Amino acid sequence: MKAVRLLEYGGQLVFNDVPTPTIARDEILVKIKSTAVNHLDLVKASGTARQILPIDLPWIPGHEFSGVVEQIGSDVAAYAPGDAVFAANETGGAYAEYLAVKPAAIARKPSNLSFEEAASVPVASQTAWQGLFTHGHLKKGQTILILGGAGAVGAYAVQLASHGGATVIATASGDDEAYLNSIGASRVIDYRKAQFEKVLREKVDVVFDLVGGDTQKRSFLVLKEGGHLVSATQPVSQDEAAMHRVSGVMMRLAPSGDVLGRIGRLLEEGTIRPDVATAYALQDAAQAWKDIAAKLPGVHGMSPSGPGAARRKPHGKIVLRVA
Ligand SMILES: NC(=O)c1ccc[n+]([C@@H]2O[C@H](COP(=O)([O-])OP(=O)(O)OC[C@H]3O[C@@H](n4cnc5c(N)ncnc54)[C@H](OP(=O)(O)O)[C@@H]3O)[C@@H](O)[C@H]2O)c1
Repeated sequence: MKAVRLLEYGGQLVFNDVPTPTIARDEILVKIKSTAVNHLDLVKASGTARQILPIDLPWIPGHEFSGVVEQIGSDVAAYAPGDAVFAANETGGAYAEYLAVKPAAIARKPSNLSFEEAASVPVASQTAWQGLFTHGHLKKGQTILILGGAGAVGAYAVQLASHGGATVIATASGDDEAYLNSIGASRVIDYRKAQFEKVLREKVDVVFDLVGGDTQKRSFLVLKEGGHLVSATQPVSQDEAAMHRVSGVMMRLAPSGDVLGRIGRLLEEGTIRPDVATAYALQDAAQAWKDIAAKLPGVHGMSPSGPGAARRKPHGKIVLRVA
C-alpha cells in the first residue's frame, strides 16, 4: 500500500510503498478515505517529546481517519465489511491506504458528512468532550471560559458546552467573534486587545485552556472556588490550584468509540458541525505540515510565521485525501 512515513526524528516525510497491515482476531482492517493533520503528528516527529511521546521509526503519522471496513477479525461482531467508520487512534498510522484498528475506538461515520469532513472530527471533538465533561465536570447552567475558542478543539468545545446548557465565554482573535457567536459563544474576548482576567466581572465554573503559558497562569484568577481548570496543552501547577482552591488537570485524549458515537449523532442531527480548512492529497502531507508548523514555534525544525496582526484564515482542520 502507499503510505507517508517518517524515517528519522526531524526528517522529511517520504511517500512510497510499504506492506499492508495484517489484522489480529480482534481487529478491523480499514481502507482509509481521509485522515487529518494534528499538532501531535509534528510534535512526535520532531523528537522533542520522545520521552513521553515515543514512536517506533520508521513511523506512519496520522491520529484520526475516516474510511470503510475492508476486513474483520474472527472475534469482531460489531462491524462488517463495507461499513463507513471514523476514529481517533493513539499511535498514529492513518497517513496510509490501510490501518488495522480495534473496534472499541471506532464509530459509524455520520451519514451526512463527507469522508473528508468525518476525518476532521475525532481528535478535536473528543478532546473537547472529555475536557468539558470528563475532566471539567461541566453542568447545565454553569459558565465556562474557553481559552482559544476559535481553534479546532475550541470550536467543538464552544458548540458542545453551549448545547449542554452552559454559558460560554471564549477568547480568540477579534476577527473570530462573529464565527464564535454563530456556534454558541455568548461572549468573545479578543486576546490581542484585552486580558480576560481584567474584563471578566464574574468568576467562572470551568476554564478549558487550549493556549497554555501565561494564559494558563492567569486563568486561576477567574475561577470560582471549587472550579475546574482543564488544560489540553501543558501540566497545571498543583500548588497554584491548591492556593486558589480549584482543581487543575492536564488532560490527554483517550479515544473512545462510545464518545465518538455520541458526537456522531449530534453531527448527524445538525446540532454541531465540523469544519475543514483545507484538503491536500496524501502525497502532499509535507505541505500540510508546513501550514500547521506556522502555528507551532520550533517544532520539526520549521520557523513559525510569528505573532503579528490577526489574519483572516479558514477555520477547522487540514485534511489529507487518501482514496
Ligand atoms: N491533550 C490532548 O489530548 C490534546 C488533543 C488535541 C489538541 N491538543 C492541544 O490543544 C491545543 C489546541 O489545539 P487545536 O487543534 O484546537 O489548535 P488550532 O486549531 O491551531 O487553534 C489554536 C487557536 O488558538 C488561538 N490562539 C492562539 N493564541 C491565543 C491566545 N493567547 N488566546 C486565545 N486564543 C489564542 C488561535 O487563534 P489565532 O490563530 O487567531 O491566533 C487559534 O484559533 C494545541 O496545543 C494542541 O496541541 C491537545
